[in-house]
Amino acid sequence: MTASKQETTTEEREQIKQETGQILNGFSRKRPGLIPILQKVQGKLGYLPREAMTAIAEYLDIPAIDVYGVVTFYNQFRLNPPGRHSIKVCLGTVCHMKGGYITLDAWKRRLGISPRETTDDREFDLDTVACVGCCTMAPVTVVDDKPEGVVEPTRVDGILLAFGYERETKDKEKSESD
Ligand code: FES
Repeated sequence: MTASKQETTTEEREQIKQETGQILNGFSRKRPGLIPILQKVQGKLGYLPREAMTAIAEYLDIPAIDVYGVVTFYNQFRLNPPGRHSIKVCLGTVCHMKGGYITLDAWKRRLGISPRETTDDREFDLDTVACVGCCTMAPVTVVDDKPEGVVEPTRVDGILLAFGYERETKDKEKSESD
């Protein structure tokens, strides 16, 4: 899998513009509203596509590059659509000391993406988080909101294999029921 460079379809772009426009209507055209607007749009779309950032810039009458600058500055904002499965590697102090960065490297290598990116097939997105409160299980990776303990590089392969197996099973069940 390689880094996400998904193109949006014309239909998706129209929908993004429409949904962003609806959200913008609830805000005044003042620049201090930028971050709340970005949060709301991301809450709705799951990420901040270029079309949304352009619409926001036009609405607030500020350069699009300023919007982009804010989006890339804050970790909370995503430029890529979320994957079907989310992988979040804990880099809190304890996980860091127990090899969190080595685990993160393993995820990056296996998925072919960096944090805040999504695989081309939109199957997985990768991110980092601060302590999730399960330090005794360090190093922790949160997989689809479920903290998995002692996720060392070999377990990364195991978790991905489990997803592959799950998908294969579902495909099989589906083809049998067709
Ligand atoms: S530091 Fe990772 S769970 Fe606490």
